[in-house]
Amino acid sequence: MMEFYKNLSAGDWAALLPFGVACAAVGFGAKIFIDKKLGGTPVNLSLRKNESKIADSFDIEDIGNKAVFCRCWRSAKFPYCDGSHNAHNAATGDNVGPLIVKKKD
Ligand code: FES
Repeated sequence: MMEFYKNLSAGDWAALLPFGVACAAVGFGAKIFIDKKLGGTPVNLSLRKNESKIADSFDIEDIGNKAVFCRCWRSAKFPYCDGSHNAHNAATGDNVGPLIVKKKD
């Protein structure tokens, strides 16, 4: 197989160049398409962007009777819900809501 490439002239390589460029363009376009389809858009648009990963921890004893945690990443009081999910859902057609943790009644 390698012998085939060794025997190509400069003109042959020049003739193959458009095909190579077309293949690279198709591959690059496919990568962009797949990235968009598989989550190329970040969920977190503005919160604590200086952190490499946002993870919060709470002691259950400190939560009190009830805590409402944001799952839409739009709350100004993140990690707590401030109701911003309502505007997000209305604007995007999404259906996200908070996680509510409470003591049994
Ligand atoms: Fe994000 Fe309510 S504000 S779930």
